[in-house]
Amino acid sequence: MKVLVVGGGGREHAIVLKLKESKKIDKIYCAPGNAGISRDAQCVDIKATDIFALADFAKSEKIDFTVVGMDDPLVMGIVDEFEKQGLRIFGPRKNAAIIEGSKAFSKELMKKYNIPTAKYETFSDFESAYSYIKENKLPIVVKADGLALGKGVIICNSLEEAKAGLKQIMIDKKFGESGSKVVVEEFLTGPEVSVLSFCDGTTLIPMVSAQDHKRAFDGDEGLNTGGMGTFSPSRIYTDEIADVCMEKIFKPTVSALKKEGREFKGIIYFGLMITDDGPKVIEYNARFGDPETQVILPRLESDLLEVFEACVDGTLDKIEVKWKNNAAACVILASGGYPESYDKGFPIYGLENCDRRDDIFVYHAGTALKDNGFVTNGGRVLGITGVGKNLDEAIKIAYQGVDLVSFDKMHFRRDIGVKRS
Ligand code: AMP
Ligand code: GLY
Repeated sequence: MKVLVVGGGGREHAIVLKLKESKKIDKIYCAPGNAGISRDAQCVDIKATDIFALADFAKSEKIDFTVVGMDDPLVMGIVDEFEKQGLRIFGPRKNAAIIEGSKAFSKELMKKYNIPTAKYETFSDFESAYSYIKENKLPIVVKADGLALGKGVIICNSLEEAKAGLKQIMIDKKFGESGSKVVVEEFLTGPEVSVLSFCDGTTLIPMVSAQDHKRAFDGDEGLNTGGMGTFSPSRIYTDEIADVCMEKIFKPTVSALKKEGREFKGIIYFGLMITDDGPKVIEYNARFGDPETQVILPRLESDLLEVFEACVDGTLDKIEVKWKNNAAACVILASGGYPESYDKGFPIYGLENCDRRDDIFVYHAGTALKDNGFVTNGGRVLGITGVGKNLDEAIKIAYQGVDLVSFDKMHFRRDIGVKRS
């Protein structure tokens, strides 16, 4: 089979590497991919959001199956277009990807079907949003309705912050049209866990749990980033909590979407907070997480393509998804300055040392090739994953991998996976 993966970050590199293990696949393409991915797949110079060009490519190259890694093409309707053209593709259609594309939609769905989440109201104008905030308890959370590269959430500790945040989103349109509506919601407290799941529209199979570290610096200090590291399993996600999530959140979400005529085939990513009142949904995503995928997929025993096909065919109840009895931790090596401005083009040293270790996986997020060697080419440059028999060992191995690699102005957190109360 010929498979096309859409996207070009660390997440897509992890998907490509896992698919490479499938005996059913002869060739993997990745659009647009990146320099590191080009060692494992044939990269195609088409943007992930260029849906029509991707469909043309899939047709002319006789691609048997396409996997979408990124959120934007899903929300834009890549799956609908491929299906219209008779092409097989893994991911939710536009009317289901909206659980990520519109926070107002997903909050309304949760309210209607009694799925536990923070209390909220939706607003389309600044004045009424601000009046509501003035009447409610601080801190309070303001979220842009649409996609905002994970940056459209503002936790407001004062009225001044709330006013400034609302202004940025609704008036200055910092996130474009994503901010023409906002969700204002109750501030919840508790540890967070990410549970991704495979879904075929009716059956949902959760993957192993993961936790990520979003802040730039150790001790959860500094600015929010796309993710500085992650580990799996989560220490807080016990079997009891998993059972509650299955009954109160996962199954109700799938059946709610089905009842609304928005059958969801693909990955539902549940961003959960374990509050004193039980687990609540902080957000839904309609795709694999980045960098969660870089610790989840190395733990998968089953053939990933078979699982994807079962989701598309509606036969997830007929297969078993098997996991390895191990743990994984991923440390992101970022460019100094990230998530603000940073320089690019620094040579990366020592990657060949990682190649020699079968317990270390290197996922490329932002690299380029120059004179046959890799150079830095983005904020998040590499994800170094260590796999071990338990979390402590996995974390130790990930940092051994980090010690093998270097580039100028390299920045990473030293506390990935560290227990915090
Ligand atoms: P989101 O993009 O919705 O995942 O939000 C980003 C981060 O903001 C989450 O991972 C939480 O840490 C935080 N957050 C979002 N909503 C809330 C909330 N209602 N209460 C407390 N923290 C929140
Ligand atoms: N790691 C968070 C996300 O992928 O949205």
